[in-house]
Amino acid sequence: MNVIVIGGGGREHAIIRQLRKNPTVETIWALPGNGGIALDATCVAISATDVPGIIEFAKTHDVGFAIVTPDDPLCLGVVDELAAIGVPAFGPSKAAARIEGSKAFAKDLMRRHGIPTAAYAVYDDADAALAAVMTCPIPVVVKADGLALGKGVTVAMTRDDAVAAVREAMVDGRFGVAGARVVIEEFMTGVEASCLLLTDGTNYKLLPAAMDHKRALDGDQGPNTGGMGSIAPHPLMTPELIARVEAEIIVPTLAALRDEGCPFTGCLYAGLMLTPDGPKVVEFNCRFGDPETQAVLALLDCDLLTALQATTNHTLASTPLSFRDGAAACVVLASGGYPGHYETGYPVTGWEAAAKIADVDFAGVAAKDGQLVTSGGRVLGVTATAPSLAEAIDRAYQGTDLIHFDGAYRRSDIGRAVL
Ligand code: AMP
Ligand code: GLY
Repeated sequence: MNVIVIGGGGREHAIIRQLRKNPTVETIWALPGNGGIALDATCVAISATDVPGIIEFAKTHDVGFAIVTPDDPLCLGVVDELAAIGVPAFGPSKAAARIEGSKAFAKDLMRRHGIPTAAYAVYDDADAALAAVMTCPIPVVVKADGLALGKGVTVAMTRDDAVAAVREAMVDGRFGVAGARVVIEEFMTGVEASCLLLTDGTNYKLLPAAMDHKRALDGDQGPNTGGMGSIAPHPLMTPELIARVEAEIIVPTLAALRDEGCPFTGCLYAGLMLTPDGPKVVEFNCRFGDPETQAVLALLDCDLLTALQATTNHTLASTPLSFRDGAAACVVLASGGYPGHYETGYPVTGWEAAAKIADVDFAGVAAKDGQLVTSGGRVLGVTATAPSLAEAIDRAYQGTDLIHFDGAYRRSDIGRAVL
């Protein structure tokens, strides 16, 4: 079977490396992939948001299955369009993807169904939102309703920051239409956890809970990034806590989406805060997380394609999904300056040696004159597994030590704070 994978980051590379283990998989096309993914798949220069281009490619090639992982094409409805031309596609429908595409939709759904999350209000009017942040308790969190490349959330530690965040979104139009509506919500405290699951709409199977590291610098300092590293399983997610999350959050959310006419299929990602009052939802994503996926899939002990197909075939209940014991850690190497301004085009060396002791998943790299050069903020991730989390972390760092490009930076405390 030939498979297309839509996207071009470390998450997609990790998925593609799993697909290659399946002997029935013939060609893997990555749309658009990247220069490092090209080592493991055939990259096609069609962007992940070019829905007409994706559909045309699928119509003119013998595609047996499609895997859609980035948020934008899911929210644009590419899974529905692929299904309409007879190509089964992993991922939610456009209607179900609203759980990520509209924070107001997700919050209202949670309120209607009693799913624990921060208290909030939704505003379409800038004056009303500004009046709200003038009197609310501080800190407060201001969120653009729509997709904003991960930049739409401001955790405002002062009233001035909250006012500025509302103005940026609703008056200055920094996020375009995505910020015309904002959600203002209660600030929660606690450790965060990423709970990912596969579902065919009715049945679901959990992946090991993971932990992302969103801030750029050690000690959770600095600006938010796309994710600087991850570990799995999450050390604080005990079997008792996982059972509570299933009962209070996962089961009611999947039922709510079914009841409201948009059953979810694919990977549902519940971003949780483990608050003193119990686990609460920070956000839902309608897809695999990056870099959580790199750590989680490193522990996978079954065929990924079969498991993903079970979500579209509605056969998840009878399909095994198993993971190895032990732990995994992913450490991201980023371009100096990221998530702010950074330079690109620097040669990436040493990754062949790193790949002998760990998985190297490429994200922001391009192929140029027969070598890999940097082309993005998050350049690559190195993921290692070991019997213990401490060993997995050490090995992932040993892998990154072998890789070089000018300006490379990484956090030095991935997974270590929680140990
Ligand atoms: P999101 O884009 O919704 O994942 O938000 C980005 C980050 O903002 C989260 O990972 C949290 O660290 C933080 N955040 C979002 N909502 C809240 C909240 N209600 N309370 C505290 N932190 C939050
Ligand atoms: N790791 C966070 C995300 O994928 O959105």
